[in-house]
Amino acid sequence: MGERTGSKKDIDGFRPPEDFSENAVVNDPDIYRRAEEDPEGFWEENANNIYWYKKWDKVLEWEPPHSKWFLGGKLNACYNCLDANLDTRADKAALIWESEDGDIRQYTYQELLDEVCKLANVLKDSGIRKGDIVTIYLPMIPEVIISMLACARIGAPHSVVFAAFSGDSLATRISNANSRLLITCDGYARRGKVVEQKNKVDDGISSIELLERVIVVKNSDNDISMKEGRDVWWHDVMNGSDIVCEPEIMDSEDMLFLMYTSGTTGKPKGIVHTTGGYMVATNTTSRFVFDLKEDDIYWCTADAGWITGHSYIVYGPLSNGATLLTYEGAPDYPEKDRYWDIIERHKVTILYTAPTAIRTFMKWGTSWLKMHDISSLRLMGSVGEPINPEAWKWYHENVGMGKCPIVDTWWQTETGMIMISPLPGVTTTKPGSATMPFPGIKAAVLDEKGNETAPGEDGFLAILEPWPSMVRTVFGNEERFIETYWSKWDNRTYFAGDGAKRDDDGYFWIIGRVDDVIKVAGHRIGSAEFESIMVSHPSVAEAGVVGKEDELRGEVIYCYVTLKTGAEESEELKKELRGYADKNIGPFARPKQIIFSDDLPKTRSGKIMRRVLKAIANNKDPGDVTTLQDPAVVDMLTERTRELE
Ligand code: WTA
Repeated sequence: MGERTGSKKDIDGFRPPEDFSENAVVNDPDIYRRAEEDPEGFWEENANNIYWYKKWDKVLEWEPPHSKWFLGGKLNACYNCLDANLDTRADKAALIWESEDGDIRQYTYQELLDEVCKLANVLKDSGIRKGDIVTIYLPMIPEVIISMLACARIGAPHSVVFAAFSGDSLATRISNANSRLLITCDGYARRGKVVEQKNKVDDGISSIELLERVIVVKNSDNDISMKEGRDVWWHDVMNGSDIVCEPEIMDSEDMLFLMYTSGTTGKPKGIVHTTGGYMVATNTTSRFVFDLKEDDIYWCTADAGWITGHSYIVYGPLSNGATLLTYEGAPDYPEKDRYWDIIERHKVTILYTAPTAIRTFMKWGTSWLKMHDISSLRLMGSVGEPINPEAWKWYHENVGMGKCPIVDTWWQTETGMIMISPLPGVTTTKPGSATMPFPGIKAAVLDEKGNETAPGEDGFLAILEPWPSMVRTVFGNEERFIETYWSKWDNRTYFAGDGAKRDDDGYFWIIGRVDDVIKVAGHRIGSAEFESIMVSHPSVAEAGVVGKEDELRGEVIYCYVTLKTGAEESEELKKELRGYADKNIGPFARPKQIIFSDDLPKTRSGKIMRRVLKAIANNKDPGDVTTLQDPAVVDMLTERTRELE
């Protein structure tokens, strides 16, 4: 068991084990004071861990809400992840990859660089130039990492779309980004079945003319069609491609990638991240939070299609010369011990995963764990949703054998880097709290007016000062950028969209989203985006989509719909609507319940009140409903919702 401090005055929590602290990358708590006194100096010092063709003239220019970092600096992100490691790590494994059916592929830093350069040349030959956005739609196979780095090498920002998204969701993102080139695959295995990825692509993009080139990785044996003149096989174009490709010299503020994410309203937003600040931020946080050492085998179970995969599989760890382990497959295939089996066989030392996964393992029980020797683990992380104290403790005792520190890391697509997290060699942790802001980050919990809340009181999580990897804008929609993140208070304080509180020790406790973002198993889904898809079904008139708290998955989706005249309420229609969500968004977003209703709670001006629906779904008091068009609707929906349970 981890040490618990007895005295009431002390923080009641888990102190880092002494031997861990002694050897930790960071073990001096003074780092917090130094970074607070001079945040720019702190980031500048850490920027020296990145290779620059030309160093910056100025660390920060802050014209709220716009920041520029490392102004005038020149670098290349791919160079930092690969070439910069060659002197000492050319033959070190950069990536160990395992597929669901047990294939293992390994790339040294030199081998990964060769593949990346080959693809970079292919992209150039396909007419891709600096600034052209390339869309990537691949599962967690090595090619997704190779593709991202090849883009970075030639200065073409990438937009990775999570492989389980539907073809339609893909098409929306391709159109918004104006992508001319897509990298995808024929299919991939999930629990022994093939997901027909290329067919999803063909379905989705049939209405857009934009794509000039589709590069298809051969990854499974399913039949696909190739469009003459547009679609080419990865192995054909890579064959004979030159392994030398000079990296493009990029400005600090050149875009590194776009990452589409869901927000409160409308279509997904393209979050813009730039190069210099992002590289410094992910490089520093990876080293400090994950305590990366030369011999570590680091496994982040996220998918490259989400921000965690960008920052903490690709850019942060590789720019530190780490050995990555990645797994493409389900955690219960062929059996429920797959993760522990992988950890044992590959001697994984650091595991970074999500609370939903931890709760699932808890449910499956410790017998699966006991079949394996996972004593190689020395540090574990959690990300994506709040972790409940029971899950934290289970993780700590059973996976971490009571000795591994846990880093519960709060951050977002928009922040680019981990913002609130323990430093494993320094911070006393408390189950369920993400603890303290990372050095150099100034966070607070504010009320509606922008005043700090008292300890124990709920408020909104806010970031008070700029940080290097902050979102620069929403692609093609500056207004939305300002409106979403900056307009809540004073146009210089970042509104994260999360509810939070601090305790008497100043620790942060994240409660969850206060906007219309739903987190299903850590996957980020927007209510409005979901509703607009549901109302495109011929039987649906209106839809209200909300998150309902769920013990296992954090939240699940409750979808309230009114039907068009002529459409009949039936179990078949429910089934069809679930399938419709699967097909048009992705199976990870399948609604748990479809609830038919004659009407939805609306304001007098006709706006659907999700707040009321959310309260109904969660069996909570919907508050004042007298201003609704028809307050009686609340009772009717409550009854229908309770009937389901
Ligand atoms: C939630 C994922 C509590 C939060 C990196 C945030 C968390 C949203 C945590 C961003 C955590 C992430 N504790 N909640 N440790 N980490 N979240 O953009 O609601 O996919 O706003 O980025 O996930 O989700 P996103």
